[in-house]
Order: sequence, then C-alpha cells, then structure tokens
Amino acid sequence: MDELFDFTGKVALVTGGSRGLGREMALALAARGADVVITSRKADACASVAAEIETMGRQALAYGCHVGHWGEIDAMVEAAYERFGRIDILINNAGMSPLYDKLSSVSEELFDKVIGVNLKGPFRLMANVGERMAEGEGGSIINISSVASLSPSPASEPYGAAKSGLNALTRSFAFALGPNVRVNGIAAGPFLTDISKAWDMPAFERRAKSTQALGRGGRPDEIVGAALYLASSSASFTTGTVIRVDGGSV
Ligand SMILES: NC(=O)c1ccc[n+]([C@@H]2O[C@H](COP(=O)([O-])OP(=O)(O)OC[C@H]3O[C@@H](n4cnc5c(N)ncnc54)[C@H](OP(=O)(O)O)[C@@H]3O)[C@@H](O)[C@H]2O)c1
Repeated sequence: MDELFDFTGKVALVTGGSRGLGREMALALAARGADVVITSRKADACASVAAEIETMGRQALAYGCHVGHWGEIDAMVEAAYERFGRIDILINNAGMSPLYDKLSSVSEELFDKVIGVNLKGPFRLMANVGERMAEGEGGSIINISSVASLSPSPASEPYGAAKSGLNALTRSFAFALGPNVRVNGIAAGPFLTDISKAWDMPAFERRAKSTQALGRGGRPDEIVGAALYLASSSASFTTGTVIRVDGGSV
C-alpha cells in the first residue's frame, strides 16, 4: 500500500455513513486500513455497512445518532472513544436538502432542521472531537459542503446558507484546532445518490449539458479521491480550504 494513503491504525468517524457519499468514503478508508465508526439515524443501516467493513478485516462500530441533537452526538462520541480510544479522521457528511414549492412554504421547523443537520451538528462534532484531536495526536476533519454554498441555488436557500456557514466553520476551526488538526471541506456538486431520487432526472440531464463541464452528475464513488487526499498525510499542508468536487458546475 502507498504509505501516503495507508490508514492502518487510524480510526475514522463518518456521519451519514449508512449510504450515499458517506458509505463510499467509509468503505474506502476501511479498504486502506482504517477502523470506522458509522453513524446515521438508522442504526440498522449503519450495522450493515459495519458488517461490510468487518468482512474487510477492519473493526467497525455502528451507532444510531441524529446529528441535529447535541446530546445524541456527545453520547455517540463517548461510545466511539470507549470502543477505539481515538478518532483520527472525522467526516461531517450527514446532510439533507429538502425540496419545497415556494419560499413562504418553508416552515420554521424545516428551516431549523436544515440548519441543525447541516451546520449545528458539525459544529458540535468539531468542537467535541476536534479538541480531543488537538490535545492528542492530531487529526483531519472533512466537512461535506455543497456548491449551493458558493453560488445561488434556487429552491435550496436554507440549505445553501447552512453549507455556507459550514464553510465558515471550516476556516475558523482550522485556526482554532491547528496546527495539530487540519480542517477542510468538499463542496460537492450534483451526485447521484438517494438525494437525486427527488430530482426531475430528464430535466437534470438536459441542464447538465450546459451547467456541468463534464455534462453529468457524479457517481457516489467519485467523492472518494478528494476525501482520501484530505484525510491523508499527502494533504499535510492543506487546511482551512474547501475543494470543489462538482464535475465543473457553473
Ligand atoms: N448528492 C448530492 O447531489 C449532494 C450535493 C452537494 C452536497 N451533498 C452533501 O453530501 C452529503 C451526503 O449526501 P448524500 O448525497 O450521500 O445523501 P444521502 O444519500 O441522502 O445520505 C445522507 C446520509 O445522511 C444521513 N442522515 C440524514 N439525516 C441525518 C440526521 N439528521 N442525522 C444523522 N444522519 C443523517 C442518512 O442516514 P439516515 O437516513 O439513516 O439518517 C444518510 O446516511 C450531505 O451533506 C449532502 O448535503 C450532496
């Protein structure tokens, strides 16, 4: 194994690791030697990814946790440290971007949920895990953001605002937790995961030809290269930045 991408002895925690981009990143880290904590709301779904990881000869902990609720986050982090004694890589990946008809139909409850899952949860995870990393052997934190945080995206205003906030946290936590901990983000473009099941695909495919340099949505596994780079020592001089992995979105 290329030692730049050898995660033997490392422990990764991936929120939203049960499916989509999170699952791909969790499996890729495990394939390169990491033990992994898989968390999402549905413990059963996490357990099936954990079982896949165990067949690869790595250890995994599946844990049900709603990342909008700090009490659940803290309990999950305690369970992770109790099991593995360390977390070297934290991937704040859990996220949601509900569709709505018009701005006035966005309820206060929906707005708070979008902020809770995409921004408030990652803050607590970075504060809780990041401080322990900084005081210990260091680590790498990766926040999965969105191109909606960088350019106006109709019908996802609260989501874009939450992810912009996540970009701001990425930069400020890089300073707060450095030099021992690196903190970076990935601004994902359109990926064909469960999120895309709510899209009008024929319209998306027509639009993608002019709005995406690559003319298509991403396969879930196409997030992996950037995540491995940011998690690994090959990114030892990269922190406080947000990398676009978006197929060349306008
Ligand atoms: N796909 C895209 O086009 C796209 C574009 C830009 C950015 N992103 C970002 O990429 C990340 C992953 O997206 P994806 O496409 O892989 O989505 P996905 O397939 O819908 O998966 C979302 C993951 O997050 C978990 N999750 C959702 N709400 C949660 C909550 N409240 N607490 C804990 N876990 C929760 C889900 O599991 P449970 O249901 O079990 O909780 C699932 O594991 C998100 O942050 C998303 O905003 C995606």
